[in-house]
Amino acid sequence: MSAHPPWNLDAIRSHFVFPAHGRVVTNNAASTQPPRALLALFQALAPAYDNVHRGQSDASQITTARFESAYDDIARFIGAPSRRNIVVVRNTTEAHNAVMYSLMSEFRDGDNVVTTMMEHNSNYVPWYAMCRDILPRFGRRVEYRLARFDPANGELDLQHLASLIDERTKLVGCTGASNFFGTKNPLPAIRALAGASGYRQPDGERRSYLLVDGAQLVPGTFTDVQALDVDYLSFSFHKMLAPFGVGVLYAKEHLLQTSLPFLYGGDMIAEGRVFPDRVDYNALPWKFAAGTPNILGTIVSAQALRLLLDLALTPQRATYFGTARSIDRAAVQAAMQRIGQWNRTLTAHALQRLAEVPGITIYGPRDAARRTALVAFNIAGRNPMELAEALNGRGVESRAGCHCATLAHHALGLAIPASCRFSFYFYNTLDEVDRAVDALEAVVSGHRASEKLWAWLRARTARRPQSAPLATLKA
Ligand SMILES: Cc1ncc(COP(=O)(O)O)c(C=O)c1O
Repeated sequence: MSAHPPWNLDAIRSHFVFPAHGRVVTNNAASTQPPRALLALFQALAPAYDNVHRGQSDASQITTARFESAYDDIARFIGAPSRRNIVVVRNTTEAHNAVMYSLMSEFRDGDNVVTTMMEHNSNYVPWYAMCRDILPRFGRRVEYRLARFDPANGELDLQHLASLIDERTKLVGCTGASNFFGTKNPLPAIRALAGASGYRQPDGERRSYLLVDGAQLVPGTFTDVQALDVDYLSFSFHKMLAPFGVGVLYAKEHLLQTSLPFLYGGDMIAEGRVFPDRVDYNALPWKFAAGTPNILGTIVSAQALRLLLDLALTPQRATYFGTARSIDRAAVQAAMQRIGQWNRTLTAHALQRLAEVPGITIYGPRDAARRTALVAFNIAGRNPMELAEALNGRGVESRAGCHCATLAHHALGLAIPASCRFSFYFYNTLDEVDRAVDALEAVVSGHRASEKLWAWLRARTARRPQSAPLATLKA
């Protein structure tokens, strides 16, 4: 594996503010850093801003055209057939809730939904709530089932997953990549299991739907929804350069056509088709766009995809960003391969260096090719929260907590259900990985030195006469 970036890393980093501030940003799995151009674009859109689908002014027409073409860009980026497959939401969490609420009325008594123990809470808690809190109020009994993972390497237990899926499984929900282990799940195998269940869907299809949580997958991996044959895919733009409150739910068109809307109100209705006794819903994708959307956020987020292509392929020149050029799938593949390659280099280096830190337990697969660009760990006897705070004191921005992968932390029996995590993105350098690990080593060895000092002081104090009065000791 080459340690040289497959690109001009300096040129890429010049698009961001954080390097000039000396920040060692290793919390990218939570949110990535915004490039200057996106922040500037947000402002630049203001002169021609107006609402979309709600005005006759030039400004409204221009904004509507930009907004609608953002849907086209998103569809092209993930290989969706068209904008009709795209639901713009606030984030991945909202995407999962949208699937749950849209499908909820279709679940029959005795059905089940299968998800995994390595899910982010956003792909477990909605299903838990549907099965335990919501459907029982309507007298319907639907079960959720959780597939195990191998605690030794954070790989999904496919056999266990297979044993949970049956002809009453309406939906299988699975993360594309774990935000705790980093594991990239074998989506074709999971697709095959869900496809073979024999579940009878309302339209006569005999298979379980597959919902893939792409929050950690899409930002660093070439993702083609048609090749993967997923029914639903979710992701958040704030994990891929654009912190403007926008996420995506991709769905197969016939599912969006037949399922109920998730939110009801303006713009999701067919123009003029609202009567006291009848309401007709709008055509896709607007059937799933109730109320005034996050207009600028959506436009800028789609431009983030264009900028991502430019940073990966032509960092000194705008090929896609701000142009009318249609997004080329081959360019997406080439860009994401480069990003993936550099992410793997960073991860392999982090895994190798971290393995030498005394007392460390690293979670997830050992092979960088099996994972995304994050490494979660614990140090024996250390509170991960305090560790992350100490790292911050040394200028390294990590994250400690359960990362909302709470089930997995409990399954590993972690007394504090938490771990510390370094996560990288394609703008990080090997030097930053070294600085993060150096800081961790310093925190750990500093702690050991102070522990030794305390042990030595305790031993000395213990040798003094126990009954010595304070005054004598002072003297
Ligand atoms: C795997 C995974 N799924 C879902 C989410 C939730 O994303 P959001 O907070 O954007 O809804 C995250 C966020 O960390 C994640 O890592």
